[in-house]
Amino acid sequence: GGDAPAAGGGAGGDDDAIVMGFAQVGAESGWRTANTASIQQAAEEAGVELQFSDAQQRQENQIQAIRSYIQQQVDVIAFSPVVETGWDTVLQEAKRAQIPVILTDRAVDSQDDTLYETFLGSDFVLEGEKAGEWLVENTQGEDQVNVVELQGTTGAAPAIDRKEGFESAIADAGNIEIVASQTGDFTRSGGREVMEAFLQSQPDIDVVYAHNDDMGLGAIEAIEAAGKVPGQDIRIITVDAVKDGMTALSEGKINFIVECNPLLGDQLMELAEQVVAGEEVEKRVLVEESTFTQEQAAEVLADRQY
Ligand code: AHR
Repeated sequence: GGDAPAAGGGAGGDDDAIVMGFAQVGAESGWRTANTASIQQAAEEAGVELQFSDAQQRQENQIQAIRSYIQQQVDVIAFSPVVETGWDTVLQEAKRAQIPVILTDRAVDSQDDTLYETFLGSDFVLEGEKAGEWLVENTQGEDQVNVVELQGTTGAAPAIDRKEGFESAIADAGNIEIVASQTGDFTRSGGREVMEAFLQSQPDIDVVYAHNDDMGLGAIEAIEAAGKVPGQDIRIITVDAVKDGMTALSEGKINFIVECNPLLGDQLMELAEQVVAGEEVEKRVLVEESTFTQEQAAEVLADRQY
């Protein structure tokens, strides 16, 4: 507890409670909002005392938050790195302070995997592959399929990996080409603005591949404003499967969604308890997820939690 940080290792309240410092990316998307809610709720249920910060998608803010958790001597630090690179220094500081680190949702690109205990999150390359495979199957026999890509945050693991997975899945198709690709920063407004520009610069767009639902929803606004019909004149593939995305899918405005599950809270708290107890945990913990067509979206929409 608060008055004896050396003994309790923590910053507050209940002496036995694990204190977790969590440095969140931001509140850029519906996915992120659901992810934050899951973490906060799971912490409360597990009796974990959560110190939470929102980095507003800026790496320097996340680094600052992590440094403050180190200073507070929290029991465990968890964070979802906004970008992949540039973490070694602050992670070494945590290691020196003997505070275990858990990566959630997004990975870091570091040579030294002793800088964190485990990485809990989705396989983003696989998600990109699923998006590409659907497109290959559903455009067989079409001559030339022009794709515009709305990338996630530049340098973020899901942006890098979803691009890579998609490109590898369409590589052999022969008829599919990415004619333009730009970041929309995982936000709805970013997706809309980039799509507006694509509609100006690209004479013939068949498909939008958006790295998340929010950017896809922004693209729908731009397509409708240009007098075209999303889902028909221009087909749309997205990743996440949040409620707004699933609604648009069931209404026919999106054609296919690859699920990315944000409900990591319970697994994160379990891993935190294990690493704080000094137990060995798997270095990589994957999240299970599926995909949705328009018919499937209509079926599951009512039960969707987020
Ligand atoms: O890291 C996960 C990604 O971040 C989600 O797919 C996207 O919506 C979020 O902003």
